[in-house]
Amino acid sequence: MGEDFRVRYFQPEDVVSVQRINQVFLPEHYPIYFFHENHRRFPKAFLVAEINGRIVGYVMCRVEKAFLWRKTLNLGHVLSIAVDKNYRRKGIGKALMTEAERNLRSEYGCNLIYLEVRVSNEPAINLYRKLGYRRLGVIPRYYHDGEDAYLMFKIVSPDTSERDVIESLGNKVRETELF
Ligand code: ACO
Ligand code: ZN
Repeated sequence: MGEDFRVRYFQPEDVVSVQRINQVFLPEHYPIYFFHENHRRFPKAFLVAEINGRIVGYVMCRVEKAFLWRKTLNLGHVLSIAVDKNYRRKGIGKALMTEAERNLRSEYGCNLIYLEVRVSNEPAINLYRKLGYRRLGVIPRYYHDGEDAYLMFKIVSPDTSERDVIESLGNKVRETELF
């Protein structure tokens, strides 16, 4: 009742709200230009959630290429997602991820989607697992404070194999946990 959220595209005017949520709820902070740059390059992979016109969450992604022997893959990289603490466990994070995934696939032809997450970040890891992400492995000391990351991925096109995942992302992790 008036508390329903909606997901829409990020617009440049949203940058202050988005940066605030980033600063308050994540230890990884970015300068304003980084938000603008990602939006300029991949506008359909940068989404916000709002409630009564107030931004309560965002997801920002970019698309990278992996040049394999036989083919080139488009990798959707979820750079950052956060939801205001007061609005969690309402499905907003899931909705942001689901919509971003849809656009990464349909607008940018992504074959797979990946992200890094702190090994201690249970809420986020649970969200990703629920959405079908699997662990590729650990990236040692990925964060400034020395914490390790899990690299998690999800294949979103039928012509992409686990072997492709290892070829394109395996070098980022200490040891792949597949096979
Ligand atoms: N404990 C356990 N499981 C959880 C939790 C939690 N605290 N939060 C979410 N989940 C799992 C549950 O399975 C949940 O489904 P359920 O509520 O039906 O049980 C599912 O995720 C979906 O939850 P949502 O309500 O959609 O998620 P929410 O809107 O709360 O946002 C998020 C999740 C974005 C991880 C939020 O907790 C957050 O902003 N955390 C701080 C910032 C952060 O850690 N971002 C991720 C960093 S990694 C990266 O950016 C790539
Ligand atoms: Zn990343």
